[in-house]
Amino acid sequence: MKGKLKYEGKGKCLFESETPGQLIQEFKDDATAFDGIKHEVIAGKGELNCAISSFIFDKLHAAGVRSHYIRREGPREMRVWELDMIPVEVVIRNIAAGSICKRLGLEEGLELPRPLSELFYKSDALHDPMVAVEHAELFGWASAEEIASMRQMALQVNEVLSSMLADVGIRLVDYKLEFGRLPDGGIVLGDEITPDGCRLWDAETGRKLDKDVFRQDMGGLSEVYHEVATRLGIPLR
Ligand code: TMP
Ligand code: ASP
Repeated sequence: MKGKLKYEGKGKCLFESETPGQLIQEFKDDATAFDGIKHEVIAGKGELNCAISSFIFDKLHAAGVRSHYIRREGPREMRVWELDMIPVEVVIRNIAAGSICKRLGLEEGLELPRPLSELFYKSDALHDPMVAVEHAELFGWASAEEIASMRQMALQVNEVLSSMLADVGIRLVDYKLEFGRLPDGGIVLGDEITPDGCRLWDAETGRKLDKDVFRQDMGGLSEVYHEVATRLGIPLR
């Protein structure tokens, strides 16, 4: 049962549930980019993202990666554990694209010799600036041990996700993860894993199958998200 609204973000809402410590995470149909400056409502996006994220959290759980995910509860809803969110985003990159190309003058598509993990401070107003582990410690966002465990989990996610996507002809270029603390202090994966927060390229053609199609006005977002879901064998209505 969906109770009182606890939090509303750009892409999701969190509602209280009848069980203390558990929330209902609802995926919205809104698509945003550039920290909310570009915004559109795309019918069906919430359901696609809920289906994709539920499927991925299940696979990660089977591989031993703990997350806030409990179960899918409706077309656009999943039940999750309530977390004390850490305001540091972990980005893992396998191939150079997006902000690292601008920052370091790299060519898009450059294969990195090994996965790179970067940290960003979650703040739309500041445009999610890149930070170091020292900032997280100094400003009390997370301890060095917590950041180390987030990075380790993020790399474990990379193994599972990269191979799952490679099996269906998709390259995992990069992605962003968020983490939070359970009441016992244990760190688990939170938020979502969807093509909103990943770069996915068709392995043969390099065609973009993620939110870059929306950021760069390259056509139908729901069509490419649908394609990702179908290729992964995710049942859709
Ligand atoms: P970036 O190239 O803009 O740094 O983004 C790297 C990846 O992380 C890309 O797949 C988009 C995702 N990302 C988000 O979804 N939200 C964010 O706030 C950030 C910083 C990155
Ligand atoms: N945080 C950004 C936004 O949704 C991510 C992006 O630009 O894709 O506004």
